[in-house]
Amino acid sequence: MSAPLDDIADYSAFVYALVERHPFVTSSTLALAPIGATLAKLEGRIECQGGIHLEVWELIDFAARRIRTYSYEVYRGGEKICWYDSWQHPEILALAPTCPALDRGRIAERCCLSDALPFRAMNADEPAHQNPTRTASQESISAVSFAEDRAAAQERKKTYPYQFPRDSRQLGGKFCVEENARRLLRFFYIERRLMQGLGAWTLSIPEFEVKLETGRHIFYHADAARLLRERLSEQETGLKAIDAFRDAGIDRLVEELLSATSACELLVGVHQVVGRALATAYRHHIDDTDPVTDAPTIRCLRRILGDYEPMLEWADKAIAAYVQGGVDEPGLAAWRWHLQRLLASLGGVTGSDTPAEAPAPLRSVAKPFARGTVPLRDCRFETFKNTGDYDTADGQARFPQESYENLRLRFIRTQRDEVDAIEAFGTFVWDIRFKDFQSEYNLARITWDEARHTEIGHRALLACGYDPFELKNRLTGSTCRGPMEPAFAMAEINLFGEVGVLKTINDLIDTAAQRHDALLHHIADFIRSDERTHVRKGQGILKVMTELDSKALETRTRELFTECLVSLGAVKKDMDLFTVSRDDIERLVGE
Ligand SMILES: [Fe+2]
Ligand SMILES: [Fe+2]
Repeated sequence: MSAPLDDIADYSAFVYALVERHPFVTSSTLALAPIGATLAKLEGRIECQGGIHLEVWELIDFAARRIRTYSYEVYRGGEKICWYDSWQHPEILALAPTCPALDRGRIAERCCLSDALPFRAMNADEPAHQNPTRTASQESISAVSFAEDRAAAQERKKTYPYQFPRDSRQLGGKFCVEENARRLLRFFYIERRLMQGLGAWTLSIPEFEVKLETGRHIFYHADAARLLRERLSEQETGLKAIDAFRDAGIDRLVEELLSATSACELLVGVHQVVGRALATAYRHHIDDTDPVTDAPTIRCLRRILGDYEPMLEWADKAIAAYVQGGVDEPGLAAWRWHLQRLLASLGGVTGSDTPAEAPAPLRSVAKPFARGTVPLRDCRFETFKNTGDYDTADGQARFPQESYENLRLRFIRTQRDEVDAIEAFGTFVWDIRFKDFQSEYNLARITWDEARHTEIGHRALLACGYDPFELKNRLTGSTCRGPMEPAFAMAEINLFGEVGVLKTINDLIDTAAQRHDALLHHIADFIRSDERTHVRKGQGILKVMTELDSKALETRTRELFTECLVSLGAVKKDMDLFTVSRDDIERLVGE
């Protein structure tokens, strides 16, 4: 936009509205003072984003409608990086080739022909502004504007009646497509690794609330990775290259934070170190990239931050609760500092900071991380794994075996006990890592769904008048699946457990409707649609996990679960060639 030089009032309005008009200008001390009837002096300083400031001096001749003399100096971080003025600089030969048509006496002035130049969006990192020669060259392509066309355009504008909302975004950003993609690829990779890493810990988190939230967070990281992957595919990076991307430094960081000695330490690493650094990097990326040319990246990062803000807030509160409950705070602080130094040694999440010295020793070097195989519960739970049947575990029946009341309570308890399904699907995300992104993503989504089913069960028990912790928690399925090869564990939970739920849920929902049991009808309705989705997605995931055909997969799964159930005492082995039936697995292990 050109400055209006018709009179001092117009120019005052222009100068004093700079901060309001340009979001990149943070403050201005510009002062316009009249000198006689038609002259005025402008002097002051303009502060911009990115540590940039301009020192401005102008003498304006309103009779001639021009800035007669001027001096603009641009500083970054206190260091002068370029200047523009109207004086002759014959001693600076570097300016000569930029304006061959002009005489040497006007060379410097040619650098400043655009009267709007100092008010353009300044780019803190763009080298062009550090070099007066190149700046002059860019400015040498002047607009060829025909006076009558411009006047006609002005006239047409006067007839346009609408004052639409003004879009204050400006062109200009720190990144080219290549640099944008480099950063987004690192973000994608860290998100993918956090999704996998949290999955690896699902069995080993004892605290119920933390296991549930982690089930949700696995999906938040998966969805962040999906959004970044999609944007990357629009930034000259093919899906194959995105999925094949690995980074040894990030792997080292993730292996180290997974080497936490407790769930609380895990939260410190995942959320307070890496999660917080990512959220900051996303906000900086939003500020630094071009808001017009790269708007899809900004939208992508804002959507991710929508999940991050409650997730990080929850993590801070959860860690505070651990400390209040007796977890050693200095120990957590030392672990946090250790991981922060490790992250800093990689140049931060963007890889662009000056790398710091790496801390030593690393736990993950002394002992490579291996995921847990045993399902853990906190002290509020009483658990059982010697049977799959609730009445047997309880030692007495609460309701008659085939009664609706019994089926209803069994369904609700089973949902609460799907805390083991968080463990199963979360563990699969880790176990099949890097085999296929879409399968990892689908598993992450199912993990969140199972966390919801657990929440639904817990809340439904409360709504039925139970303290959920008075009802024993079934660990039979997770105990068998924990150490098992993922394809067979997946075959059990998906082909037997989830399919088994669908076999009985229609009748249950119909009966609930007939009995006006709104609670059961409501929750089972949603759970049915989730489980149908899981059975459908499971087909594709199993294909990635194994090349066995369905018959061989089912047979081997039944054999492995027979061995496990026998070892737990949940079934008696009274024949040499005995394997449990499909129905037995559906009943004793389930989802
Ligand atoms: Fe479920
Ligand atoms: Fe499910």
